[in-house]
Amino acid sequence: MRLSGKTALITGAARGIGLAFAKAYVAEGARVAIADIDLAKAQAAAAEIGDAAVAVHMDVSDQASIEQGVEAAVSALGKIDILINNAAIFSAAPIVEIDRADYARVFDINVGGTLFTMQAVARHMIDRSIKGRIINMASQAGRRGESLVAVYCASKAAVISLTQSAGLNLIAHGINVNAIAPGVVDGEHWDGVDAFFAKYEGKAPGQKKKEVAQAVPMGRMGTAEDLTGMAVFLASDDAAYVVAQTYNVDGGNWMS
Ligand SMILES: NC(=O)c1ccc[n+]([C@@H]2O[C@H](COP(=O)([O-])OP(=O)(O)OC[C@H]3O[C@@H](n4cnc5c(N)ncnc54)[C@H](O)[C@@H]3O)[C@@H](O)[C@H]2O)c1
Repeated sequence: MRLSGKTALITGAARGIGLAFAKAYVAEGARVAIADIDLAKAQAAAAEIGDAAVAVHMDVSDQASIEQGVEAAVSALGKIDILINNAAIFSAAPIVEIDRADYARVFDINVGGTLFTMQAVARHMIDRSIKGRIINMASQAGRRGESLVAVYCASKAAVISLTQSAGLNLIAHGINVNAIAPGVVDGEHWDGVDAFFAKYEGKAPGQKKKEVAQAVPMGRMGTAEDLTGMAVFLASDDAAYVVAQTYNVDGGNWMS
């Protein structure tokens, strides 16, 4: 087991990719705090995993909530060795229809949430001299703009940039910061994306999913489980010399 004795805080882990990460980390011997804005769902996820998981309420767009969530995770787990900044929301609209409040919400969660949760956990790691790992969830959307997805794409480009800056800054404390850039991963998140495209491109429900699946060189959408190998690797001793990188895990969709 590659994460024996380790503890991890994973934001947005009540469902989807974050939940798959929590299960994979527990399978590798870690204990995890499932942090989510939806506490009831986080509690159900923790109960499903068992004794190695605890649920923590956290709204990553709210500074007090981040601090309380980190404190709750430390008190339940004793320490935090690994943080995965996974919580995020999607948004899409043509440029002329982008709403300022929606833009602020996406940036508060996807960018501010990543930055200030990283800050809170890095302070904890530095205080305790923990040579920790921080993994940020970027996206192929952060590699290149998309016609209808300006705000989300910009937020994920910011996550890649923050990973580089934080990676360079925090390695001085022995904390490795890296990111994962998934492609198109099936689940409730993509059900929402499909609905946006149904609205803006006049597609039948499910049509956009079929199109993106066919466009992936591997010929299918990803699953949350397709990403767990990279998340375990980046948290493990094998990644000790990996700093400030963003890895594409996308079935061949993107090269950079
Ligand atoms: N699914 C994909 O195709 C895909 C592709 C590229 C990148 N990603 C990224 O991977 C990560 C996980 O994606 P997913 O598909 O599992 O998403 P998801 O929408 O299924 O899950 C997101 C979770 O975050 C939680 N959340 C939302 N706002 C929050 C807040 N303010 N504070 C705390 N928790 C909050 C939600 O309650 C939910 O449990 C995200 O960062 C996403 O941008 C996903």
